[in-house]
Amino acid sequence: MSAHGDPIPMTARRAGPLSGTAEVPGDKSISHRALILGALSVGETRITGLLEGQDVLDTGRAMRAFGAEVSHLGPGEWVVHGVGVGGFAEPGDVIDCGNSGTGVRLIMGAMATSPITATFTGDASLRGRPMGRVTDPLALFGAAAYGRAGGRLPMTIVGAADPVPVRYAVPVPSAQVKSAVLLAGLNAPGETVVIEREATRDHTERMLAGFGAALWVEDTDEGRVITLTGQPELRPQTIAVPRDPSSAAFPVCAALITEGSDVLVPGIGLNPTRAGLFDTLREMGADLTYENPREEGGEPVADLRARFSPAMKGIEVPPERAPSMIDEYPILSVVACFAEGVTMMRGVRELRVKESDRIAAMAEGLIACGARVETGEDWMAVTGMGPGGLPGGARCATHLDHRIAMSFLCAGMAAQNPVTVDDCTPIATSFPVFEPLMEGLGAVFARAEA
Ligand code: S3P
Repeated sequence: MSAHGDPIPMTARRAGPLSGTAEVPGDKSISHRALILGALSVGETRITGLLEGQDVLDTGRAMRAFGAEVSHLGPGEWVVHGVGVGGFAEPGDVIDCGNSGTGVRLIMGAMATSPITATFTGDASLRGRPMGRVTDPLALFGAAAYGRAGGRLPMTIVGAADPVPVRYAVPVPSAQVKSAVLLAGLNAPGETVVIEREATRDHTERMLAGFGAALWVEDTDEGRVITLTGQPELRPQTIAVPRDPSSAAFPVCAALITEGSDVLVPGIGLNPTRAGLFDTLREMGADLTYENPREEGGEPVADLRARFSPAMKGIEVPPERAPSMIDEYPILSVVACFAEGVTMMRGVRELRVKESDRIAAMAEGLIACGARVETGEDWMAVTGMGPGGLPGGARCATHLDHRIAMSFLCAGMAAQNPVTVDDCTPIATSFPVFEPLMEGLGAVFARAEA
């Protein structure tokens, strides 16, 4: 969805205890991949628990434009009739990926080794984000990219008619780049090799293996080496998408900082490449437990129980943990305001090229709320004010970034004075039921004056 609509401001005020069960929606990363790999296999892939957020709906629409049949059967239930590896048709119009970096980068990879041309665009946030990190390796396969200055959208990709396989060391920790290269490698003959120095979320590798691709992963001195044999026939799958840990982070963190709270968030995906926030919160002294650990759809899953935690302490978050919690630093910086002492977050340069510059957006809003925050190019430090200590009382800019909007609304639930966000509409990209779900736990939100 491009942000065509008017912004809708929203205010959160200090709530009573939060309690109850929070059934958060399906994992966004896995949902994108399920639609794309479904489209690249021959036959019918059935998906349950798909996130019906705008980002994923945009990817579904894009898969239709490339020739797959994508049908909605019921809530979270979708069927994809794929066209097979190398079977993408040329889209008849521009592909609008809305707000989604994952959508556009993975789809560019998936089409770059077919002899077709596609033009991509997105909303103002996505049009400001760098695509060179994906088009550089795609050029090695033989694809060409024509975009705006700085490798920005709108951009046209001319797919390689005779793709060659690639060996590529990903220069930044990015699952999107890794995944784009692997998806491009699907239609190149021979072996495509991707090396990542720091392990990032591995949903693409897991799902490719599930669809029957020949892929193996080795941990070496160079890093994680992933080798994929090109031109497989992918077998359609039945995929149960686990609930999203990045969405679970909001009710969990709101419960930790709101007096008297006790919240259960069932069935959360705890893939180790995604669960860094929960390890960090526990190290800070959060009362956060994993109940009923199990495996669902090839991913580890547990029920999370979060209770008000008045004795949290600031810590130094290990920088090597950053890829496993990269989307969770905004909400962690809110929790850090309610701990004692300094929470130091280093090695987080990638936050500057997300849906917004998340270091700048969080620092600006939290400082307006009375927090003590310092930042550098690749770090952010928050000096906590203890339980209930954040003054609040500010209006925060969300910069078309869903996670910034949800983080400030959680801050307002526990701060001394209400916190307003200038636009809550981006929340629909990843967590369309955020407002009723949080209100069901006891949050007090109100649509504010524009
Ligand atoms: C994602 C990877 C991460 C993350 C994004 C989802 C994915 O981005 O921030 O929300 O699904 O592959 P990068 O690859 O830019 O780190």
